[in-house]
Amino acid sequence: MSAERTKVTVGVCGGIAAYKSVELVRLLQDTGYDPHVVMTKAAEEFVRPLTFAAISGHKVITTLWGEDAGSDSEEEASSIEHINEAQTTKLLIVAPATADILAKFAHGLADDFLSTMYLATTAPVIVAPAMNVVMWEHPATRANVETLRARGVKVIEPGSGYLACGMVGGGRLAEPATIVMAVVETLSKGSVGLRADEAAYGSPGLEAAEQELDFAGETVLVTAGGTREAIDPVRFIGNRSSGRMGYAVAAAARRRGARVILITAPTDLACPAGVEVVQVVSAGEMRDSVMQRLREATIVVMAAAVSDYRVRSVAAQKIKRESARAVLLELEATEDILREVVAQRVVGTIVVGFAAETQDALANGRAKLAGKGVDAVVVNDVSVEGIGFDSEKNAGSFLTRDGAVELPVMSKATMAERILDEVAKLRG
Ligand code: CTP
Repeated sequence: MSAERTKVTVGVCGGIAAYKSVELVRLLQDTGYDPHVVMTKAAEEFVRPLTFAAISGHKVITTLWGEDAGSDSEEEASSIEHINEAQTTKLLIVAPATADILAKFAHGLADDFLSTMYLATTAPVIVAPAMNVVMWEHPATRANVETLRARGVKVIEPGSGYLACGMVGGGRLAEPATIVMAVVETLSKGSVGLRADEAAYGSPGLEAAEQELDFAGETVLVTAGGTREAIDPVRFIGNRSSGRMGYAVAAAARRRGARVILITAPTDLACPAGVEVVQVVSAGEMRDSVMQRLREATIVVMAAAVSDYRVRSVAAQKIKRESARAVLLELEATEDILREVVAQRVVGTIVVGFAAETQDALANGRAKLAGKGVDAVVVNDVSVEGIGFDSEKNAGSFLTRDGAVELPVMSKATMAERILDEVAKLRG
């Protein structure tokens, strides 16, 4: 599997829920996909194409006949662009899907880019409808939905609740995380989600789900985030880890077919879809959770920045300013989780550690590789501006006993794929 992300196309229709598609695109990206956006004319009344262009980093397709928006300006939209988009995408997800687009899809109308692309693609199609409850329950809409279902289109049922029109009932767009979960599942199931007519006729539809699932059958345990060691009930000793690298590894492993357990210290990140998440705070809690789940893992990736020290006696009450002119904190060492994992792993479990260094990165990384007895160490120099801690990007080296693979500056999502590529080679 290459580091290239899987392209998915997000179709956005005109409805109040279109604003939720912005979060959907972001989540798809966080999960490791490469979302491209197609908007209907009506959708532009609710969200500007530029918003999606900025998030996705791609031009947003808004029309069948030229006129583009956002970046990638060299790629002029054209009357055959829908064919290209339809053929290169691995999945089409329409959210929100209005009553109008469901009707067009069901009847094969092709008077705008999205409906034309639907006819031209062999990729799996998911629709997440959102509309007024009476429209949703209208026999015409029900019939269209059933037609699409029978054709193999996956329908993510809308939820119930307050609708923008003031009514209460079914018709609310499913939550973006639920939609991403359906995307992950459809792409990991291979042929599931293919349109039934294509499956029946043996058309090249399978190609749409050809994404390599080279981690199927593996259980990947990932640690992420920076642990926090309490000083008193309101203060803690922490570090600058954002958790992005570990989350990216978890998302990529899930997308490549693994079962994933993510044991995470506090972060600001959304949980990757389809991943089992265990929240912890301190190094001690992380150690307990990791050791509890270790037997299930076939691959362990320890991306967390674990505190090496904890406060020996945590103050029961908030330490007051007046209590002393200086406060001396006595620190004691925390458990080295990685070392314990290596000692207790089942034979065959691959263990990858991280080494965040501020000097002599390669030498220190090599020392950790040998000292900790891990199969590989991802080493990075966190003193380099723009990479590492609290940054979107990373760079470093993947060290094994056999050598080093350089990982030049790239997004953490891409780096996660590259790391998994190397882990797959270790397994091979
Ligand atoms: N690690 C761990 N438990 C700890 C500290 C670190 O499991 N108490 C793991 C990290 O998740 C990482 C690896 O060990 O995968 C290396 O972490 P790092 O902080 O770079 O190394 P340390 O062993 O703490 O060594 P030092 O801080 O002296 O560089």
